[in-house]
Amino acid sequence: MSAEIIRVELGERSYDIEIGAGLIDQAGPRMAPVMAGKRAFVVTDDVVAPLYLDRVLASLDRAGIAHGHVVVPHGEHSKCFAQLEELTETMLDARCERSTMVVALGGGVIGDLTGFAAAILQRGLDFVQIPTTLLAQVDSSVGGKTGINTRQGKNLVGAFHQPRLVLADIDTLNSLDRRQMLAGYAEVVKYGVIDDSLFFAWLEEHGPALIDGDQAARARAVAVSCRAKARIVAADEREGGVRALLNLGHTFGHALEAETGFSEELLHGEAVAVGMVMALRLSARLDLAPPEDCARLERHLARVGLPTGLSRQRHWDVAALVHHMAGDKKVRDGKVTFVLAKGIGQSFLTREVPAAAVRDMLAEFVAG
Ligand SMILES: NC(=O)c1ccc[n+]([C@@H]2O[C@H](COP(=O)([O-])OP(=O)(O)OC[C@H]3O[C@@H](n4cnc5c(N)ncnc54)[C@H](O)[C@@H]3O)[C@@H](O)[C@H]2O)c1
Repeated sequence: MSAEIIRVELGERSYDIEIGAGLIDQAGPRMAPVMAGKRAFVVTDDVVAPLYLDRVLASLDRAGIAHGHVVVPHGEHSKCFAQLEELTETMLDARCERSTMVVALGGGVIGDLTGFAAAILQRGLDFVQIPTTLLAQVDSSVGGKTGINTRQGKNLVGAFHQPRLVLADIDTLNSLDRRQMLAGYAEVVKYGVIDDSLFFAWLEEHGPALIDGDQAARARAVAVSCRAKARIVAADEREGGVRALLNLGHTFGHALEAETGFSEELLHGEAVAVGMVMALRLSARLDLAPPEDCARLERHLARVGLPTGLSRQRHWDVAALVHHMAGDKKVRDGKVTFVLAKGIGQSFLTREVPAAAVRDMLAEFVAG
């Protein structure tokens, strides 16, 4: 079966993203060319394991690759020191060595945790990402950010560690529930809003079908998203500049996630959807973007079923949200770096945003 291949150009750390249907059944032969040895160790979670683990292991068998594996509990709480300790010790017990290929099979949680374990074990093992959520296929599996959460916040401990290969099997999205699918879709929309208004227009037309299961539309959206991310990461691997554009909607989104305790109440992608609307509303409030572009974004997100405002089920507090934003990783010299837009497809970075405008915009959302 053919796959679309996108190259992430990072000198000696360059790698391919392969996108297609049925790729997990070919994981062994597709991984073999980038492996230093003939051993692999697969990390997955307890939701993904019963769905896909056996197929990956069978493919490794067929390619003559010896393997071990471990299943960790699903969910964000697995991105923690305790789970990292457990995982790295299990990998050492399983005799993972320098030439062992570590395989992250699952969503962004598994990718981030496993990638970080691979980064620190024996000062760095090679690893392969096999992302199984839309969010992981279009975002977290590409770019080399790995890490865990601490009580101070999300992703505060981690490393840049690029995978050797990403295998995005779009068939795995068939088992994803609609809410998770939509959360990943928010990140897809993000690429359109950042710098690709044609892609945004394409999503307006094909987004609903994509979410409902149109395989061709899914493959195209994953490919366009990965190409965009690959380009931005190649230009700025360690987020000194342009890579920060990928944080569109994330500074506000993180504040919402922090306020809801990073719980199921608001998934990351849902927070990003609301965060993007906030970024566009703030841009319009500052006379940078036409209000129609903000309305167009809101219309599209609402049409597919993503949130565009704050839930009425809880009391929101502007000061608390501002406080969370000030704790964001992207704060430098006490100033938050905002991703604003001159319109859909025209995002830019700025640190010159009047605090009062941010507060007023948030107050508008809190008021509903
Ligand atoms: N490293 C990065 O650049 C980056 C970027 C964005 C997000 N992230 C991180 O990614 C994480 C979120 O990732 P996510 O949304 O994939 O969450 P997730 O990994 O928690 O997956 C969501 C749920 O779907 C289940 N699941 C996974 N694949 C499935 C499938 N094919 N069928 C059915 N169920 C499946 C999982 O078990 C889990 O319960 C967050 O921790 C976030 O910080 C990292």
